[in-house]
Amino acid sequence: MAEFKLPANSVVGEGKTWKAESGGNVRQFKIYRWDPDAGQNPRLDTYEVDLDNCGPMVLDALIKIKNEVDPTLTFRRSCREGICGSCAMNIDGTNTLACTKAIDEVRGDVKIYPLPHMSVVKDLVPDMTHFYAQYASIKPWMRTQTPAPPDQERLQSKEDRAKLDGLYECILCACCSTSCPSYWWNSDRYLGPAILLQAYRWIVDSRDEATGERLDELEDPFKLYRCHTIMNCAKTCPKGLNPGKAIAEIKKMLVMRR
Ligand code: SF4
Ligand code: SF4
Ligand code: FES
Repeated sequence: MAEFKLPANSVVGEGKTWKAESGGNVRQFKIYRWDPDAGQNPRLDTYEVDLDNCGPMVLDALIKIKNEVDPTLTFRRSCREGICGSCAMNIDGTNTLACTKAIDEVRGDVKIYPLPHMSVVKDLVPDMTHFYAQYASIKPWMRTQTPAPPDQERLQSKEDRAKLDGLYECILCACCSTSCPSYWWNSDRYLGPAILLQAYRWIVDSRDEATGERLDELEDPFKLYRCHTIMNCAKTCPKGLNPGKAIAEIKKMLVMRR
């Protein structure tokens, strides 16, 4: 797929307003629209939604708008319950999941943009190609040399399993990476909080036998050390995870083995 990158300061004009046909509980949703094929600047379209006839989450409103008002509105979603990570977007100034963000939590108009500092494919859909390539680069699978036991899985103790808590829950939504100033400016070489949290998830897995190689691959001034512990990542993670802490643990392991 072709990449389209908007300049960071590109002008977003006022677009069309779609009035609600009825209802006394109307909220306005101001939504970023941009179709690269149309050759026009991005705009903010306004949609009025009667919340008495709409589910409670921002994703419910987006689906209602697409189904009943404007089928050209484009966004990703799948699970509708905070598991797939595909509905990540910037709502009311924060990167989060549209399916778990309650409309009630937003005061005033509900402003919705795509994840910041990503190439935009269309409307609220960011191009995740580079993010997924970075994920593949950390080899996110169990790497072993010893043969697996013939009659059972590779086991781990309860204590070792507990080390994966706070890591395995990551759904790769990219909310954290796209809120990280270091990632905004260096995403070509800095892996960013989401991918580094995933890297740490394999480093601390007692069943994995490539810990040394994984650490070698991360010991790089750009891949890892662009993290300056600003902690936007932990503030924004919709799953309550702390990628900044995982990054600090990787740095600590690198110091300890010197
Ligand atoms: S750490 Fe949190 S914000 Fe980052 S990708 Fe994983 S789930 Fe999303
Ligand atoms: S702690 Fe590191 S990864 Fe997280 S936002 Fe800050 S610089 Fe980015
Ligand atoms: S639709 Fe899957 S996380 Fe929101």
